[in-house]
Amino acid sequence: MKLWGGRFTSAADAAADHFHSSISFDKRLYRQDIAVSAAHAEMLGRQGIIPLRDAEEICRALEEILSDIESGRLAIDESAEDIHTFIEKILTERAGEAGKRLHTGRSRNDQVATDMRMYVKEEAEAIESELKTLAATFLALAKEHTDTIMPGYTHMQRAQPVTLAHHLLAYVEMFKRDLRRLAAAREAADVMPLGACALAATSYPLDREFTRVKLGFGAAAANSLDAVSDRDFCGDLLYAFAMIMMHISRLCEELVLWSSQEFQFVEISDSYATGSSIMPQKKNPDMAELMRGKTGRVYGGLIGLLTVMKGLPLTYNTDMQEDKEAVFDAIDTVKMCLPVLNGMMASLRLNAETMSEAADGGFTNATDVADWLVKKGVAFRDAHEITGRLVLRCIAGGKTLEELSIEEYRAESEVFNADIYGAISARQCVEARTVDCGPARANTERLIAQCEEYLWK
Ligand code: ARG
Repeated sequence: MKLWGGRFTSAADAAADHFHSSISFDKRLYRQDIAVSAAHAEMLGRQGIIPLRDAEEICRALEEILSDIESGRLAIDESAEDIHTFIEKILTERAGEAGKRLHTGRSRNDQVATDMRMYVKEEAEAIESELKTLAATFLALAKEHTDTIMPGYTHMQRAQPVTLAHHLLAYVEMFKRDLRRLAAAREAADVMPLGACALAATSYPLDREFTRVKLGFGAAAANSLDAVSDRDFCGDLLYAFAMIMMHISRLCEELVLWSSQEFQFVEISDSYATGSSIMPQKKNPDMAELMRGKTGRVYGGLIGLLTVMKGLPLTYNTDMQEDKEAVFDAIDTVKMCLPVLNGMMASLRLNAETMSEAADGGFTNATDVADWLVKKGVAFRDAHEITGRLVLRCIAGGKTLEELSIEEYRAESEVFNADIYGAISARQCVEARTVDCGPARANTERLIAQCEEYLWK
């Protein structure tokens, strides 16, 4: 059945029909579509635009259609053009004449935009909650590891000692920003297009305030042309997802590195790793790799949508039907990744000893040697030079900075005395970093408390 058959004399080409149909993917909007139709019908009845009993009949039949789809009694027919067409067809079969009055004062253009916005709002909220669960796991791990020393890296070279808690809390900051971006996408979606109809609104006395409240929108679109042609909210959502995936991907990259024999900082639980079909010793970090890989398809969704939209004249164009697969696939991907990542993190074995040994190597305390000299009055640039020479001595003698004798220290600068040893243990280096964004224990505990408040407020 076509909703627009009147003007046509020949049937659609089968391949063209299949090519054009969106029901295989937009069928997931059935709940939103039914809710939108019910609110619209009720409003039409209240406004006297259609007879009240027709509105009631429509609502009754829609309720029945919803429960029949949910129970599996009514299968969604994939030969329909889209979910809107399918539901209207079934409605008309079940509610007769009344059903045929539903599409008064609306168009699929405002309808599909309203459905999508409701769907995006719901899914963004569900993903926010998954992200909060993940952040909570990071916070729990951080609490356990405020004293676990590890090397911090720049250029993938050991740089300065930090704590594992400090490292994990960096990700919590990313997740907090992700939550703000998701909330912004939800806010962008929280504007109701209904009433815009095809593009130019309508002459029926619609009560948009009624449908807005009924459907739980914060606002109603101000301009009918924008209402049907705006997909910014999809872009906002996909951008928020792209950023989430970028963060997850960086973490996964670290998990891949850290679980290698070369690092041995972590061991991924057997439940989140796989073996090799040929090499019996292998335990591969596949989940982490796959999340790193799936980041690409989510980016693809964002770029795809931006590209679809960039050349479109106002208002609705069928190109916009392409918004759905990008958004749906990205939602599915992010929704799949977050719980797997959460489980993988919660079951991760963190090897505190290897981390702390790594922090003790690589001269990660060299800055602290230089800082010690600065505190004794040496200019930083000179202190840097002196410490550099000490590091050269260490490399030549196969020693760490802690292992150099006081004579060796004093050979480079008379300023050194035995106090230097108390200032350069990795733990001391961490504890000395009391600047409020640094890894000292008191900061870490304060930041954990702040994050908990932020996440659960
Ligand atoms: N399946 C369409 C979409 O997803 C619904 C809107 C159709 N509107 C139209 N004028 N053909 O965009």
